[in-house]
Amino acid sequence: MIFSHKPVMLKECIEGLNIKEDGVYLDGTLGGAGHSVEILRRLGPKGLLIGVDQDREALEAAVEKLKNTDTKGRFITIHSNFENIRQILKTQKIKALDGILLDLGVSSHQLDTEERGFRYQENAPLDMRMDRSKSFDAKELLNTWSKEQIAAVIHEYGEEKWAVRIADFICNVREKAEISTTSQLVDIIKAAIPAQARRKGPHPAKRTFQAIRIAVNRELEALKNVLPEAFDLLNTAGRMCVITFHSLEDRIVKQFIRERIGRCKCPPGIPKCVCNAVRELKQINSKPITPSADELKQNHRARSAKLRIVEKL
Ligand SMILES: C[S@@+](CC[C@H](N)C(=O)[O-])C[C@H]1O[C@@H](n2cnc3c(N)ncnc32)[C@H](O)[C@@H]1O
Repeated sequence: MIFSHKPVMLKECIEGLNIKEDGVYLDGTLGGAGHSVEILRRLGPKGLLIGVDQDREALEAAVEKLKNTDTKGRFITIHSNFENIRQILKTQKIKALDGILLDLGVSSHQLDTEERGFRYQENAPLDMRMDRSKSFDAKELLNTWSKEQIAAVIHEYGEEKWAVRIADFICNVREKAEISTTSQLVDIIKAAIPAQARRKGPHPAKRTFQAIRIAVNRELEALKNVLPEAFDLLNTAGRMCVITFHSLEDRIVKQFIRERIGRCKCPPGIPKCVCNAVRELKQINSKPITPSADELKQNHRARSAKLRIVEKL
């Protein structure tokens, strides 16, 4: 199988992780192992890389790449959701980590595999699962969730202003027959959004597809769950690098950093701090790192990426 995915901000992530050759590192989004290969290369015989992905196909391709990496470092791969990080480490009898990488979202391989139904450009079954061992998919969501639930998903995760109308159209169509393909969904979205509003901006289905994918994979929930767990499992001076691809994800990471950075929450003017804020982390870069112009020329899919790096104090 050819697994094609260009790692985003590879140099920046590797520098950000500040890899020690005998350290233990967890890549929670192994994907095509683009980042992991470079982590593994920097490890010595006592170093360990744990690669996690919820997509078995990605894991299989990644194992081949990692096996062929010239290194003295060791690696293990695990099929799981990264939100299970605590259980994953417990099973492996690992107490703490020196670095964690999360490169969120879908891989190019997933996007480009037509039958997985992530793209509105092709006609495919409505699937969108990253983990194909789970039964819940886009088809089930669209055919069984209430109109209100569907509208909320499209509004919140897609930031789509026509969300209620799209949900309305979806429910009208499914009354007559099940909605089962991406083309059917695209046609429904096009019918729901007035022609004038469709003329400008991105493809009219872009936001709705993003929203449904996020809901099917519980992407924001998993991110909210993993951040405190992962951070607590870091050794002192351990680093966590997170690459986000849209503002909803970045907001969750920013919010987490704000909670742990220990900024005083006392009302202004109070003579002495009473909130006992504890500084648990430092940000390696005050602003998120974004891809260089050179990288963007070579990888259009990196355009919305933001990398935040924190160190445990
Ligand atoms: C953007 S790709 C990572 C690419 C990888 N860094 C590389 O350079 O090859 C994201 C990968 O993370 C996986 N993934 C996304 N969310 C996940 C989660 N909650 N738990 C485990 N894997 C996840 C996806 O299945 C996908 O393979």
